Parts: sequence; structure tokens; C-alpha cells
Amino acid sequence: MKISIIGCGYVGAVTGACFAELGNEVCFIDVDVLKIKEIESHRSPIFEPGLDSLLEENAPRISTSTSIREGIIGSDCSFICVGTPSNEDGSIDLTYIKSAAEEIGNALRTMENHTVVVKSTVVPGTTDNVIIPLLEKNSLKCVERGFHVAMNPEFLKEGSALNDFFHPDRIIMGVMDDPGNKVLEELYRSFSCQKLCTSIKIAEMIKYVSNAFLATKISFSNEIGNICKKLDIDVYEVMKGVGLDQRIGPKFLNAGAGFGGSCFPKDVSALIALAEKYGESPILLKSAIEINEKQPGRLVELLRSRVGELKNKRITILGLAFKDNTDDIRDSRAIPVIKELLVQGADIAAYDPMACGAMKKIFPSITYCRSAAEALNEADGCLVMTEWPEFAELHHEFDRMRKKIIIEGRRILSCEGYEGICW
Ligand code: UGA
Repeated sequence: MKISIIGCGYVGAVTGACFAELGNEVCFIDVDVLKIKEIESHRSPIFEPGLDSLLEENAPRISTSTSIREGIIGSDCSFICVGTPSNEDGSIDLTYIKSAAEEIGNALRTMENHTVVVKSTVVPGTTDNVIIPLLEKNSLKCVERGFHVAMNPEFLKEGSALNDFFHPDRIIMGVMDDPGNKVLEELYRSFSCQKLCTSIKIAEMIKYVSNAFLATKISFSNEIGNICKKLDIDVYEVMKGVGLDQRIGPKFLNAGAGFGGSCFPKDVSALIALAEKYGESPILLKSAIEINEKQPGRLVELLRSRVGELKNKRITILGLAFKDNTDDIRDSRAIPVIKELLVQGADIAAYDPMACGAMKKIFPSITYCRSAAEALNEADGCLVMTEWPEFAELHHEFDRMRKKIIIEGRRILSCEGYEGICW
């Protein structure tokens, strides 16, 4: 099949490369010339393990364009993969979605039988009430007759996105008519997982509810962890026992500094804003966010209780990315921690295997080190903020500290006896 991918950020780059690997011809389209140049040189525009080689191996089936109108001509379907950031009030910002829909609409004027698939995370009703009207207005055609629309949410985790694409738990296909349905069925024919064919609005909601549930699961574990710490009970042992119940499951029960990244905080906030627009007050979702926002403060408070006054104390931050295996710092829990440490006058030395450059743009004044050992030199305290596997190997490096006060926001250090935020 001939596929165009509109938006070469995280979702677009991974989805396009994986569809190419499955034997499809893929045209990557983005207004950002730099991203397009990277893909032309068979390099991924974002960091994701394995993506460079996938782009390289499938180069003969990959083309690029900076124009939607030119890029989608001749393709069977196009995937909208543009970003959906948050407005100030937490609601979804549809600027990129709208401009993509307008341009695709223009291109559809001269195309027959094309299916537009929405992959971006959009709140329920967006495809029906915003995207389809814009496609119709600009194409001068009616949906289901002049073109087809489907919604196919993604469930990719940064750092393991290729594996998640090729081995999904399920594929959700939101469709309104048969041709739209057929395109997705054809594209995912080789996948043996459960496939749920449903309405577009339900597909949109499934994506939000999945992320909101996982975020709530983490906040639940964090709240239980905070209680366990007071009771001198190891929350990880507790959750090991709890997770053995198949109704609960063992995943996403790791207590710690809370969830970050470009999805959970943004998607839960968008769902809250949507609920409030319809007169609902989503107490549980708001609590999931509230617990998450308080965890970094608890970590700094714990550090202060061990180190004392933080003014002019040298504090090491190990880990800046929102999780391991990525250079992404969006909504990383290290951000509120660094902000608070700076307010309290600490002198910060930070290390992350990949994310120092990105964090430097937000906090140019703190010291960035080339290794954990360097960051730990003469430190009065250390906070572990990311679950990078290399931190599990640290032992004698901590001997460089002035005082060996190490507090984990993620349970990663292999040595026994380190105090954690919830353990
Ligand atoms: C998340 C979802 O897991 C994906 O299914 C979804 O497709 C994606 O958002 C998206 O909407 O695009 P991602 O943000 O890449 O994926 O990262 P996760 O691995 O889910 O981790 C999110 C945050 O939760 C990280 O800060 C991580 O450290 C934290 N976390 C995760 C915990 O604190 N405890 C856990 O048990 C698991």
C-alpha cells in the first residue's frame, strides 16, 4: 500500500518506518525541513532505539516531502501524526491538526478513494466535529463518498516503540464506513493480536482512557508508597503481591517520583478539561494529577530532612530524562525538583546519559557533568530521578560524595539500603 505520514515527530517517524518495514511505500511529510533532511539521510529525527536502522534498511520504499499537497498525491491513505499540545488551561490545542486537515482537504480535490487516518491523540469528537468538516470544506467533497476517514490510536512507549508497534496488545480501528475499515484491516493483516473495530469517537476515547488509567495506576502506587514508607513497609514487595492478581496485573505499579513525558500529564489534563466542559468534575483524574505534582516536592523535602538547609549545598541529580532510554525531558519530574532546589539555593550538578543538552535549555545555570562520578564529586546529597540501567551499576562512585546521602526517586540502585521517596 502507498502511505503518507503527516508529521514526522515521535509517532509519525515510528509509524512510517514500521509500515515501510512491513513492505508498504511510505512518504514522510513535514513542514520542518530539518526533520525531512534527517529522514532523507536515513536518520531518525527523534531518538528511538532501532529507528535509524529501520529507516536505512527500508530506504528504497521511503520518500519525503515538505508539502502535504505534493506528498499525498497517489497514496492510498494518509496518517495524521501531528502533535496535539496543551493550551494554558490543559485543554487540547488543535492548531496543527486543523492546518493538516485543511491541506489534506485541498489535496483531496484531485484524489479518489483516499482514506485519512487520524493517529494523533485527539479528544473524543475531534475527528467528527473538527477534522471531517475541514476535510469536506477544503476538498469540496463529502466524507464516505469523496473520501474516507478512520481513527487508529497509537500505544507506543518511547524507548520501546518498535517492539510496541510490531507486538501490540491490541489494535483499535475507529471507522465510519467499509472502505476506511478495509484500509486498516489490510495494513494490519499480518498482526495476530486482538483487533477492535469500533466507532471513531470510541477509538478516540480508548486512547485517553488507556493513558488516564495507567497514570492513575502510577499515582495509586505512589499514594500507597507514601503510606507504606510511614509504616516502614516496602511498597515494591506489596505491589509484587498485589500485581499477582490477574485482575490487577504487575505493570505500572512502580512507585516513585511520578509520571512525566509528553503523554500522561497532557492527556489526563485534556480529559479533565473535556469533562469539565460538559459539567463533570472528574475527582479521580484530578487526584491522579495532584498526587503526581506533589511527589517531586516530597523528594526535595526528604532530601532537606537528611541534608539540612540546602543553601549552597552541592546536590547531584542523576537522570534528567522523563524515563530511561530517551533524551526526552518533557514534563520530566527532574524539572520541578531542580526548580525547587534552585529556590532553596542549592548548587546543582546534573548528569544524564542523553538529556543534558535538552535540560540546559531550561536551566542554563546549573552544572552539567559528563559522568555520574563527576557529578557526585564533593556532593552533600544525591537524588536519582531516572531509571537509567547504568545507575544500577554505581557503587564506589558514591564514595566521592562529601556525605553519602542518596535518595531515589526511581527504584534502580542495586545496592541495598538506599532510601527512596516511597521506600
Ligand atoms: C505512554 C504510554 O505508556 C503509551 O502506551 C502511549 O502510547 C504513550 O504514552 C502515548 O500516549 O504516546 P510514554 O509516555 O512513552 O508512553 O512512557 P511510559 O513508559 O508510559 O512512562 C510514562 C511515565 O510514567 C514515565 O515518567 C515513567 O517513569 C513513569 N512510570 C511508569 C512510573 O512512574 N511508574 C511505572 O510503574 C511506570
